[in-house]
Amino acid sequence: MAETLALFLSTFSMLLATIMASDHLLDIGVNWGTISSSPLNPKIVVGMLKDNGIKKVKLFDADSSTLNALAGTGIQVMVGIPNKMLEDLKKYKNAKEWVKKNVSKYLHDGGVDIRYVAVANEPFLASYNDSYKESTIPALKNIQQAIEEAGHADTIKVSIPLNADVYESASNVPSGGDFRKDIKDKMVEIVNFFKEKGSPFLVNIYPFLSLYQNPDFPEQFAFFEDGGDKTIQDKNNEYTNVFDANYDTLVWSLKKHGVGDLKIIVGEIGWPTDGHIKANATAAQKFYEGLLKKLASNKGTPMRPGKLEVYLFGLLDENMKSIAPGNFERHWGIFRYDGSPKFPLDLTGKGNNRMPIAAKGVEYQELKWCIFNPEAKDIEKVPGALDYACARADCTALEYGCSCNKLDRNGNISYAFNMYFQINDQDVEACKFGGLAMITKTNASQKSCLFPVALKSHAIRVRMGASRHALLGFMSILFWLL
Ligand SMILES: *[C@@H]1O[C@H](CO)[C@@H](O)[C@H](O)[C@H]1NC(C)=O
Ligand SMILES: *[C@@H]1O[C@H](CO)[C@@H](O)[C@H](O)[C@H]1NC(C)=O
Ligand SMILES: *[C@@H]1O[C@H](CO)[C@@H](O)[C@H](O)[C@H]1NC(C)=O
Ligand SMILES: *[C@@H]1O[C@H](CO)[C@@H](O)[C@H](O)[C@H]1NC(C)=O
Ligand SMILES: *[C@@H]1O[C@H](CO)[C@@H](O)[C@H](O)[C@H]1NC(C)=O
Repeated sequence: MAETLALFLSTFSMLLATIMASDHLLDIGVNWGTISSSPLNPKIVVGMLKDNGIKKVKLFDADSSTLNALAGTGIQVMVGIPNKMLEDLKKYKNAKEWVKKNVSKYLHDGGVDIRYVAVANEPFLASYNDSYKESTIPALKNIQQAIEEAGHADTIKVSIPLNADVYESASNVPSGGDFRKDIKDKMVEIVNFFKEKGSPFLVNIYPFLSLYQNPDFPEQFAFFEDGGDKTIQDKNNEYTNVFDANYDTLVWSLKKHGVGDLKIIVGEIGWPTDGHIKANATAAQKFYEGLLKKLASNKGTPMRPGKLEVYLFGLLDENMKSIAPGNFERHWGIFRYDGSPKFPLDLTGKGNNRMPIAAKGVEYQELKWCIFNPEAKDIEKVPGALDYACARADCTALEYGCSCNKLDRNGNISYAFNMYFQINDQDVEACKFGGLAMITKTNASQKSCLFPVALKSHAIRVRMGASRHALLGFMSILFWLL
């Protein structure tokens, strides 16, 4: 009897702890990108979101397997429209079709709780050379109209995720904020449209990039550490971190154009864990701890006190992302490619860090790795093979200051070979490299350097499977040349 009671009490208190913990979870969203050679099954990802109490996601497309996995979960969803579709959406007919196929279809009982449509992704980045400058607004207006016509305008808001580089401050303090000169007329038109439609301004703010782009940037200003010696005085406001200063530069820009009360949502914020000396799990943990405590305090920023709404970037690593902006691009995940957590954090914002709950039911391919064959003869072919593998697979962890930078020469070669082998679904042909490589069943990982094993593929990968053979064909030609 006493035992039963004790069991009952412990079960009860565990239950209570769970209820209380979920009660105090912050209202934060996460970005769920899928530019990965073997994306996790969406059903597994959704399980992981639920296990960790995450109730909002931002997507970069409207992929049907992702949306089907989100159906009936109560998770709030922002669907996205990739930049390459903007040109098409200049025609209203296409916008209407897009809304019908990718939004309306999911809005039935037990369907998907779609709250936002994100038109484009950072379309005015300077590096895009104005490619989307003329198509973004027509697409935005057409999607809005299609949403209205379909009768969803009360529950679904349409916006554009914008990089913080759409505004700037000539005086270098927030109160000098205004939209970037080359797109000012577009931005003014956009914010007035948002105001009229009740849409939020979606902005991506990256303190990491401040540090990355400027080695002299005071490091503590990138985190949320009060009491640092670096502060910015701006009128009556004092800034102790770059996030607040950046956010308020936007607030001032909006004020300047008569829409100072426009709702703001931070569409992306986070810290990468690899690919640069300043990108590591320790720094990411510190950044998230500061950010989550700030969110829990509901203090907001000097110009916008109160609750902040944010989507963390991102949920999972994406090993096929372009590294044009930097090697860190493939390492933004709070979780690794396989849904295993990287560092402790506390989504209640109380600073009681513990490891997030890993994805359950993940299926790996066979536990085997491709490594350098130490007895290989033609070692003069190594540089060519390395270049080949790393141009196609992700070798960013080998670079200076990164998780695999301490490997020896053979370790480097093995790492590159294995990455290439795994993205090719462990095809034996992808572990030949003209006799330089061999397959092993011994875990090839070394200390902090993880040699991953690919995941079992699911439906999404059909497309990649097709291009794989083209790659292999090309590879044999390359080895003939070497
Ligand atoms: C959305 O709808 C369009 C039809 O306009 C379709 O071509 C597209 O593949 C759909 N799915 C996604 C993920 O955009
Ligand atoms: C933008 O222009 C630069 C320089 O002309 C070029 O290198 C780059 O590829 C262009 N980018 C895009 C996205 O067109
Ligand atoms: C981790 O990153 C932080 C700043 O982002 C940097 O100060 C620190 O040196 C890095 N740690 C290692 C071990 O590289
Ligand atoms: C391994 O590769 C990285 C990146 O190419 C390089 O910086 C490092 O020096 C290499 N290490 C050895 C021992 O060759
Ligand atoms: C291989 O070893 C590393 C640690 O060195 C570990 O993190 C990883 O999970 C292991 N992989 C497998 C498939 O057992």
